[in-house]
Amino acid sequence: MALYAHIVGWGKYIPENAVTNDDIAKIMDTSDEWIRSRTGIGQRYFAGPHETTASMSIAAARLALDRARIAPSSIDLIIVATLTPEHIFPATACLVQDALGATHAGAFDLSAACSGFIYGLSMGSNAIQSGAAKVVLVIGAETLSRVLDIEDRTTYPLFGDGAGAVVLQAHPTPGGVLSYVLGSDGSGGEHLNIPAGGSKLPTSQHTIDNRLHYVKMNGREVYRFATRVMGKVSKEACERAGVPLNEIDLFIPHQANIRIIESASKFLGISSDKVFTNLDRYGNTSAASVPIALCEAIEQGRVSTNDKIVMVGFGGGLTWGAAVVQWGLPMPYKRRQWWYRGLRWLVYRQARLRSIWLRWRRQIENKLPEDEQKDFLPSKKEAKPKPEKPVKEPVEQRHSDNGRSANGAGKPVEIAPPEPKPEQTVEEK
Ligand code: UT7
Repeated sequence: MALYAHIVGWGKYIPENAVTNDDIAKIMDTSDEWIRSRTGIGQRYFAGPHETTASMSIAAARLALDRARIAPSSIDLIIVATLTPEHIFPATACLVQDALGATHAGAFDLSAACSGFIYGLSMGSNAIQSGAAKVVLVIGAETLSRVLDIEDRTTYPLFGDGAGAVVLQAHPTPGGVLSYVLGSDGSGGEHLNIPAGGSKLPTSQHTIDNRLHYVKMNGREVYRFATRVMGKVSKEACERAGVPLNEIDLFIPHQANIRIIESASKFLGISSDKVFTNLDRYGNTSAASVPIALCEAIEQGRVSTNDKIVMVGFGGGLTWGAAVVQWGLPMPYKRRQWWYRGLRWLVYRQARLRSIWLRWRRQIENKLPEDEQKDFLPSKKEAKPKPEKPVKEPVEQRHSDNGRSANGAGKPVEIAPPEPKPEQTVEEK
């Protein structure tokens, strides 16, 4: 049976600290007029000291799971697309896995800069369509404020922080992620990068003195590249999905520069009412920009059942990618009842306790003499044979419906079948 990867949950997290263009003009040689006219950005949000890529990812993911009515234990794979991970390793996705209590999930970070979310969506959809996963959590999250150089006016005003997440679920109803196209050109890598902090230029006094841990960008070069690829890759993805350009209901581009977005929309012949933009409020949030925009579009009632949505990204690498999604869920979305949210709260408290217990257990194990450690964690040979597990029911059936259950039991989420196309008459043919 063919499986389709449907978006069944979505969530975003935006830090509280809004920074306007005027705020930035107070600390460097720039102006609201320059930033607005060259980019379309009016303000952005910067993370507070307690906020990180992982904490924002977790908040966005929880919302997405609530909306999907899926228990964390049902997630098979977590992908976090980011260029500002919590650490070089472990992956931010693993921290998300632990905080959610996603006990059966694989987790990894994906590095494709501003195209990261589209890459993640594509990988998630592949995992579902191949049958390898039934539920995939795809997150785009950034704390770019931590890698921006306050002495560089060519980058500092452009970027912001935030996170967006979607839950993909396997479903037999046609729709969901219809197609994607990914691309890269490493020869342009030096035009947008963070030179130091990796294996080529490990942190040293020299890299710090030369401010090499901050984002460097050749804006003009990236601008030229973006205007070339954005429309083209969106068109290719539509062709692959068999969706004519005039049937696109919503175009959600990476929110880097309003002029780049306008150029791509013009190339595709999409009217401005079908183009979603929010960079005036958030700036460029890199891998988080497309999922945050998708969440906002849904909140604003701009997504209806069976809508064909084109999402496109481009950025460091250089990388680019576009995906076509046919929205399957009945809209508008009904908010969860308070008691359901309460049950969810308990699920995440339980995940926290589990995490504390696992850390403790490791500490206790370390203190035990070696022979007792063996008893504590029996080796495979010594382990008693486990009783046979009952066959797992499919994920669709573990879904809770209308918030009836927080542990995933209940009816599947409804996916509306695609609208039948009107039959052509002989004359039309
Ligand atoms: O997610 C992907 C990441 N990046 C992008 O998509 C960025 C793509 N590029 C762009 O959006 C644009 O190239 C920028 C917004 C970055 C720059 O706009 P531009 O029209 O290409 O400006 P420019 O780089 O050609 O600079 C024009 C002038 C320069 O002065 P001179 O050399 O002509 O005297 C800059 O020094 O503007 C100056 N400038 C500024 N002036 C005031 C650069 N940044 C600023 C600033 N405030 N913040």
